[in-house]
Amino acid sequence: MRDEMLYTNTSMLAFVGDAAYELCVRLRVSASGAFHSERLHRDATRYVRASAQASAIKAMLDGLPEEERRLVKRARNKRITTKPKNADPVDYKWATAFEALLGYYCLTEQSEKLEAAASAAMRIIDIDEAINREGGAAVISESADKSRNTGLGGGVTAIAAADARWGIGFEGGLLADLPGDRAYFRECTLNKTVVMGRKTLKSLPGGKPLPSRTNIVLSRNALFRADCEVFSSFDDCASRLESVDSSLVYIAGGAEIYALFLPYCDECLITKIDAVLPADSFFPNLDADGAFERVWESEPQSENGFTYRFTRYVRKDARAAGMGIGYE
Ligand SMILES: NC(=O)c1ccc[n+]([C@@H]2O[C@H](COP(=O)([O-])OP(=O)(O)OC[C@H]3O[C@@H](n4cnc5c(N)ncnc54)[C@H](OP(=O)(O)O)[C@@H]3O)[C@@H](O)[C@H]2O)c1
Repeated sequence: MRDEMLYTNTSMLAFVGDAAYELCVRLRVSASGAFHSERLHRDATRYVRASAQASAIKAMLDGLPEEERRLVKRARNKRITTKPKNADPVDYKWATAFEALLGYYCLTEQSEKLEAAASAAMRIIDIDEAINREGGAAVISESADKSRNTGLGGGVTAIAAADARWGIGFEGGLLADLPGDRAYFRECTLNKTVVMGRKTLKSLPGGKPLPSRTNIVLSRNALFRADCEVFSSFDDCASRLESVDSSLVYIAGGAEIYALFLPYCDECLITKIDAVLPADSFFPNLDADGAFERVWESEPQSENGFTYRFTRYVRKDARAAGMGIGYE
């Protein structure tokens, strides 16, 4: 089935891939907040423009297995009979090739790859925009060493809610009750792998792991738990993560674990609370860390007397390394 699909009509693959990517984009955009539909459409358009998709697939190409690379090239080389209305014809062909790849994942039921490719494309597009805004060179490295990596070889994502001083916790609990942030966390991590420290696991309802996610816990006391995987050293945990696609790994806290894994994170999704709250655990200050830059922030959200924004920070050199999607 997979082999057959590799050689099937690329227009048909692109037809399916177009819809699949659009859905991934809309889910991502709507997770950023309940905005007016005009705003949602505008945000989604950034990711679905032919030029943006073209730039994403070019950055991802080297990280693809050979047969998928051939599929992309075959789709890109297909002759177009009508001139595209709102796109440069070369971009249009690359964008169609990107959609054909996603259509292939869809029709061969490779949903993890579909999600990973869509989110890698959106990350690349965000970073391209950030670099263009700063007038930097929009050169995508041909090397994608990281993109071939899994787990800790490639970029994993940290996800946290922090106050104005980067406080994340107080006396074993969170700083604020933000249902919108809980929903965002769930949306981002559902069906993915979450990594956390023993104290954070203890702080979850009933001390139980997060449902519908692979829970990986660090504790120096090798306790056996049937409901999650416990590792007693960073190295053992890193070896376990090598079997996981890096784009599906979320570092979920607390302070010790964020500090331990930050060097392996290419992206940090930080819900920034606009307040200074009593705190005894902290996320590393990314604004003071020259390795990261903030590429996106949502409109302010208001809940339970707090104002907060969803923000995304990315490692500056991750873009040059291809912003891995970890296929191999
Ligand atoms: N705002 C947010 O987004 C957010 C997210 C998560 C957590 N939090 C908050 O953060 C606070 C907890 O953070 P924390 O720093 O105190 O604890 P933590 O990072 O959750 O867990 C620390 C524990 O992890 C284990 N550990 C750490 N490094 C290890 C290593 N190299 N090898 C093996 N095990 C290792 C140790 O467990 P053992 O002691 O068993 O050896 C250590 O005590 C809580 O207040 C929580 O609510 C906030």
